[in-house]
Amino acid sequence: MSGRIPQNFIDDLISRTDIVGLIDGFVPLRKAGSNYQALCPFHDEKSPSFTVTQDKQFYHCFGCGANGTAISFLMEYNRMEFVEAVEELAARAGLEIPRQAGHASKDSRLSELYELLELVAQFYCRQLREHPQAQRAVEYLKHRGLSAELADRFELGYAAPGWDNLISALGKSDAAQQRLARAGMIIQRDKGGYYDRFRDRIMFPIRDQRGRVIGFGGRVLDDGEPKYLNSPETPIYHKGNELYGLYQARHANKEINRLYVVEGYMDVLALVQHDVTNVVATLGTAATSDQLERLFRSTAQIVFCFDGDTAGRKAAWRALQTSLPLLRDGRQVYYRFIPQGEDPDSFIRQHGKQQFEDDSHFLCLSDYLLQELTKDFNPIIMEHKGKLLHDISPYLKKLPTGNLKQLLVREVAKLADTEPDSLERQLQQSRDQASRPTTLKAQNKGERSLLAQTIRLLLRRPKLALHIADPKDMTELDLPGADFLAEVIKLIHQNTDISCAGIIENWRGSKYEQRLSELATASASPYEKDEEVFNTDEYLESEFAGAVNQLQELSRKRKITNFGKPENLSDEQKSLLRNLNPAARSVSKD
Ligand code: UTP
Ligand code: MN
Repeated sequence: MSGRIPQNFIDDLISRTDIVGLIDGFVPLRKAGSNYQALCPFHDEKSPSFTVTQDKQFYHCFGCGANGTAISFLMEYNRMEFVEAVEELAARAGLEIPRQAGHASKDSRLSELYELLELVAQFYCRQLREHPQAQRAVEYLKHRGLSAELADRFELGYAAPGWDNLISALGKSDAAQQRLARAGMIIQRDKGGYYDRFRDRIMFPIRDQRGRVIGFGGRVLDDGEPKYLNSPETPIYHKGNELYGLYQARHANKEINRLYVVEGYMDVLALVQHDVTNVVATLGTAATSDQLERLFRSTAQIVFCFDGDTAGRKAAWRALQTSLPLLRDGRQVYYRFIPQGEDPDSFIRQHGKQQFEDDSHFLCLSDYLLQELTKDFNPIIMEHKGKLLHDISPYLKKLPTGNLKQLLVREVAKLADTEPDSLERQLQQSRDQASRPTTLKAQNKGERSLLAQTIRLLLRRPKLALHIADPKDMTELDLPGADFLAEVIKLIHQNTDISCAGIIENWRGSKYEQRLSELATASASPYEKDEEVFNTDEYLESEFAGAVNQLQELSRKRKITNFGKPENLSDEQKSLLRNLNPAARSVSKD
């Protein structure tokens, strides 16, 4: 299947799916007021804070903050990718997924590359078995302790010496050569023609999460340079996004309780060879939060394996900073430092699976954080306590609200001889101070929260947008963010039955997605949540009209402050001012 899924199909799918029925099939829901509730499937809890709201078609956990649409639920709960989740919902609704014709040519060019790389992977595999010079490669793999069965499982291959093995096998036509070049497998010569990128190397195909070959790594058989050569960035291979071994790990394990994150190809293979199949590699780069989010969709526990040397420690600290904001309840991060001079590959070969997995050698992220920040800490020196509080607060602030944060705050408070409550207050205060605005900022902040309030109301009751006759009016507002509001209103005008979830799906993957989700879960006041009066059309309509009025007023004021000196005003500006308010009128009199 290829082609982009049109957004209006997603809108349709969301409006035909009932999120309550869907989730109830996985997590039995109980009606509570106008919502449905259950124990949250995404973290451990004793009383239900997982809430599904039918009219928004949205779920939200007040405990761990998980939230989203029917599509997000399948992605998180069933560990599906976006397209898989859409396919699942479409199948349930008995709908055929149309593919956007406008993008078909681009997508068929991509699927050409996937199909080609599949053939390339098969070619290198065959070469490992058949090429007359492959014996050295086979010996090398044996020498590194890898069995033939493992080589099969990871489809290891061999690129033989020579400049045109791949070209002769798979690049017979000009078009075929261009495709190989686009896939990063062959390189154009200055004087015309191409040569193979990978020569005399062991080949590691990299599969994405859906199992498609997207690129390769190739290792030399001796100590030549570079040790590893990788596919360049191509339309289908983006180094920072991929995790080597994730596809295989998900296939080897029905349930993944824990995932080890290592640095290299050989580390993955050695661990799997020793029956530790829950392992992925970042391929020598620091893990990004996208990669970690993806891992947390497959497991609740990530164990970073770093070497104990300086470089390893540095990488571990960077991983800590990337992980902190992702650590909502139910997710855990550990470190498994490997003794100096070894890596996971040499370690497991020497000490075996049991020692590698012995979790008395694991260090949990919070202990690691405390360890690093209390290196020379002496509890009888008051200044040390002050320094600890100062140093640790940026990290505590990065953590989402939850049990881990609470426990850490308590622990730090104990070390520094202060009350957890007062530390909590300090964190809160310094956050407010950091965002304490100057007058101008205060104004911007007011505008922002007014815009947020308007959008929040629209998520609550999309039909409110129909009170605005022409969405274009909103683009004329001279306020930052007004364009986005106008987009939302336009969408609702085109799609008068769209739900909150449907709106959010239109911004999936953009910077607005998270903001919209936050607004969808926020209530303006704590009372609003339950009381029926806050949910009536009348109440919401008057709130919305009020918010829009204020926005227009703000925008007018802003245009005036931008005018500059009164004597420079145009006639149009003067008349605008006259219509505003008494104070402004007096300015424009002269
Ligand atoms: P390492 O140098 O730790 O390699 O690089 P390794 O996996 O232990 O390899 P062996 O054991 O010597 O065979 C870790 C990862 O960094 C990337 C590779 O992804 C490698 O697996 N790397 C390293 C490169 O891309 N190019 C290089 O030249 C070296
Ligand atoms: Mn190694």
